[in-house]
Amino acid sequence: PRVLLLGPPGAGKGTQSSNIAEEFDVEHVTTGDALRSNKEMDISDMDTEYDTPGEYMDQGELVPDAVVNAIVEEALTSADGFVLDGYPRNLEQAEELEDMTDLDVVLSLSVGEEELVDRLTGRRVCADCGENYHVEFNQPEEDGVCDECGGELIQREDDTEEAVRNRLDVFEENTAPVIEYYRDHDGFVEIDGEQTPEGVWTDVETAIERKA
Ligand code: AP5
Ligand code: ZN
Repeated sequence: PRVLLLGPPGAGKGTQSSNIAEEFDVEHVTTGDALRSNKEMDISDMDTEYDTPGEYMDQGELVPDAVVNAIVEEALTSADGFVLDGYPRNLEQAEELEDMTDLDVVLSLSVGEEELVDRLTGRRVCADCGENYHVEFNQPEEDGVCDECGGELIQREDDTEEAVRNRLDVFEENTAPVIEYYRDHDGFVEIDGEQTPEGVWTDVETAIERKA
C-alpha cells in the first residue's frame, strides 16, 4: 500500500511508521531522517535564507520546499509501496505530492499539545541506529544505552522546550491546513494518538487493512 501518515511533532509518526514498514513490507520514506543525515549539505545555490538544512531544523523552522521536494521525489520513484512520514508539511508540498503519486491510505494521528511537549522534551534517540526512546514512557533496559545496538542515547537538538514550542507553532500555521486538505480523501482515517503505542498500532493496522 501507499500510506501517508500525518500528525503534529511528537504524535508518534516515526514510531508507527517503523511498525507499518515492517508489517506491510513497504519503504519508510521520512524527510526528517533524510534531512538529519544531510544537516550540513550546502544548499546556498538554491537561493535560501540559510546555507544548510541544519540551521532551519535546530530552530524548528521548515527547510525550504525545493530541498524537501527533491528528496521525496527521488525516494518515491524507487518505492513500490511506502509509508510517507514528515511530508507534506504545507499546502505547496501537498500539491507537489499530488503530481508525484496517488495515495491509498491517509492516516492522521491526533494528540493534544501538552502531551506533545512531554513526549518531545522526554524523547531520547540512539546516536547510532536512530531508535526512539522516552525517559518515562519508553525506557531502555539499561539507562542511556540502546536496546537494539548498544549505542548511546542522546537528545535531539530540536527537542529543547523552546524549539518544541516553535515546532508546534509552525505545525499550527503550515501543517494543520494540510490535514484539512486530506480530510475528503477516500483513504482518510483519523486516529486517536493519545493511546499507548500498542493501542495506536492496533488502530493503524486496522485502518490500513480496511483502506488499502
Ligand atoms: P521530523 O523528524 O519529521 O520531526 P517531527 O514532525 O517534529 O516529528 P518527530 O520525529 O519529532 O515526532 P514523531 O511524530 O515522529 O513522533 P515519535 O514517534 O518520534 O522533522 C524534523 C525537522 O526537519 C522539522 O522541524 C523541519 O525543520 C525539517 N523537515 C522535515 N520534514 C520537512 C518538510 N516536509 N518540509 C520542511 N522541513 C521539513 O514519538 C515522539 C516521542 O513520543 C518518542 O519519545 C516516543 O517514544 C514517544 N511516543 C510515541 N508514541 C507514543 C505513545 N503512543 N504514547 C507515549 N509516548 C509515545
Ligand atoms: Zn541503536
